[in-house]
Amino acid sequence: MISVRHLKKGFGGVQVLKDVNVEIGKGEVVSIIGPSGTGKSTFLRCLNRLEKPDSGTILVDGIDVTAPKADLAAVRRRMGMVFQNFNLFGNLNVLDNVKAAQCDILGTPKEVAARKALELLARVGLANKADALPDELSGGQKQRVAIARALAMDPEILLFDEPTSALDPTMVGEVLSVIKDLAKTGMTMLIVTHEMGFAREVSTRVLYMDEGIVYEDGTPDEIFSHPQKPKTIEFVGKVCLKHALDMMRLLREGILSDGRVDEIEAQMLLRLSEPFEHFGDGKLNRIAATLRDMLSDGVITEAESQQIAHILGGL
Ligand SMILES: Nc1ncnc2c1ncn2[C@@H]1O[C@H](COP(=O)(O)OP(=O)(O)OP(=O)(O)O)[C@@H](O)[C@H]1O
Ligand SMILES: [Mg+2]
Repeated sequence: MISVRHLKKGFGGVQVLKDVNVEIGKGEVVSIIGPSGTGKSTFLRCLNRLEKPDSGTILVDGIDVTAPKADLAAVRRRMGMVFQNFNLFGNLNVLDNVKAAQCDILGTPKEVAARKALELLARVGLANKADALPDELSGGQKQRVAIARALAMDPEILLFDEPTSALDPTMVGEVLSVIKDLAKTGMTMLIVTHEMGFAREVSTRVLYMDEGIVYEDGTPDEIFSHPQKPKTIEFVGKVCLKHALDMMRLLREGILSDGRVDEIEAQMLLRLSEPFEHFGDGKLNRIAATLRDMLSDGVITEAESQQIAHILGGL
């Protein structure tokens, strides 16, 4: 469905995408991960031609979107995009945000567009917000409107560029669950994300981008549990440690004394940094197992183990 060959793109003499090659089939849910500045956004933006590639070809259903005469409006109809910062029209209410492009670009009659907009708003759980202005919504609600707006064009492909990274942590879940539901419908999706647990759970495939190329390409299990190449191993390892540290930060808010937190944190980090298996749902299990080990090894007391488990939500 999407075939990218020898894609190159630089800015001011800096080669960001050096040679990107990838084939993506219909219905694939592809997460794109990698360090900041490696060109993940640039890659998505080249696909729907918000950015003009320097060279290479991008075929979408056999049509070369890099050709000089490519019909860019048609390309973007086919590929909806959801941005980190929502990009809603601030002067239009929610319903009109979802209606606008249907009427302006597809020429859909107003009433038909409104009916469809309401259906889509219901689908993302916002039927009761149709009359609200974007400023009256939370970040999570805004992003769900943006998803409804992208869906209103009946795209064949949806591109998401870090859809949850501008959100308060309490709202990440509601947006991810809308994306998860979409994945189940067979929509072809490319998702740039730093939410590794989500990437692991929702994707059929993960691309690790680094050094201007698709550095490693595999199933979530291959990339997260058995990464093969040095940069992928380093990146995934760092993300693991960050998860463990986030957990420890939760602990710090709890009732353990500071000295004990430091000691336990050091032990947990040591034990958690070995395998890569504590992402997503597996993460809590892994931490629970680590706590049990630490208890049986006498590193923590029964009372401390219970306090920690309590803080982590009753493991
Ligand atoms: N329009 C632009 N003009 C100049 N430089 C740009 C432009 N867009 C991107 N860049 C540069 O290209 C590089 C890749 O940027 P890009 O936003 O694609 O990275 P990214 O992988 O999405 O990073 P992040 O994870 O931080 O979003 C960066 O060094 C960035 O500064
Ligand atoms: Mg980016």
